[in-house]
Amino acid sequence: MTETRWRAASGPDAAVAAIRRRTTVTPVVAIVLGSGLGGLADEVHDAARIPYAEIPGWKPSTAPGHAGELVVGTLAGKPVAVMKGRLHYYEGYDMAEVAFPVRVFHAWGIGTLVATNACGGLNPAFRSGDLMVMTDHINFMGANPLRGPNDDALGPRFPDMVGTYTEELRRMAHEVDDDLREGTYVAVAGPNFETPAELRMLRGFGGDAVGMSTVPEILVARQLGMRILAIATVTDMATGIPGQIEHVSSDAVLEVAERAGKRLAKVIEGVVARL
Ligand code: HPA
Repeated sequence: MTETRWRAASGPDAAVAAIRRRTTVTPVVAIVLGSGLGGLADEVHDAARIPYAEIPGWKPSTAPGHAGELVVGTLAGKPVAVMKGRLHYYEGYDMAEVAFPVRVFHAWGIGTLVATNACGGLNPAFRSGDLMVMTDHINFMGANPLRGPNDDALGPRFPDMVGTYTEELRRMAHEVDDDLREGTYVAVAGPNFETPAELRMLRGFGGDAVGMSTVPEILVARQLGMRILAIATVTDMATGIPGQIEHVSSDAVLEVAERAGKRLAKVIEGVVARL
């Protein structure tokens, strides 16, 4: 197959065509649910549930706590697409594969992305279970989904990142829940949790939270001109400060995320209702 034909067969348009064969709904917002945060997908009414494996070009989710299905239906009276589980760089996918779903959402006509994740708290004022509205990020993954040939029809070669996290959506989130934190999320490649020295460095860089996801999707959404809201769930305190050092495990992360996820679901439903 020529490269162009390969692209047509497995690019975002082919994925949209496959999704449209399963549902007539055209969502106004796409919601990405992170580790242990999949519960919101069960609140979607009249849902079509499409396993990632059935969407061409879309990789399956292999991470714990990530179901791997696209749920399309109605939430808070609005048509939505919910990713129950995301793809991560640490799973071995390249950055373009990790962010491919966002290209599909854009090609489908969706203008707003809501991303969630589980993260470690670097800011000593945070507590595990806190929800942090992302105001900015630091890409410390050492890779970028925008690398490679650029289609100027879709977005600029050198996207401006100032104002990536849409002010109006952040304001809506605070209207729904008046006890949300705000801050800068640092994305690392993982899959190991950070050393105490790395955590102190990331805090010194200006990070309030650290995690292994979200930034790839945000970079693509930004380049495509989408409106963006991202909310991080602090599942453990990762300060690296001697005397306060906690061990962290995937099971503990999932347990806290599942509890905090109920509150996060309310915030997202409230924001969706306001869209
Ligand atoms: N570090 C990185 N990723 C995470 C953490 C953490 O402490 N907690 C949840 N995801």
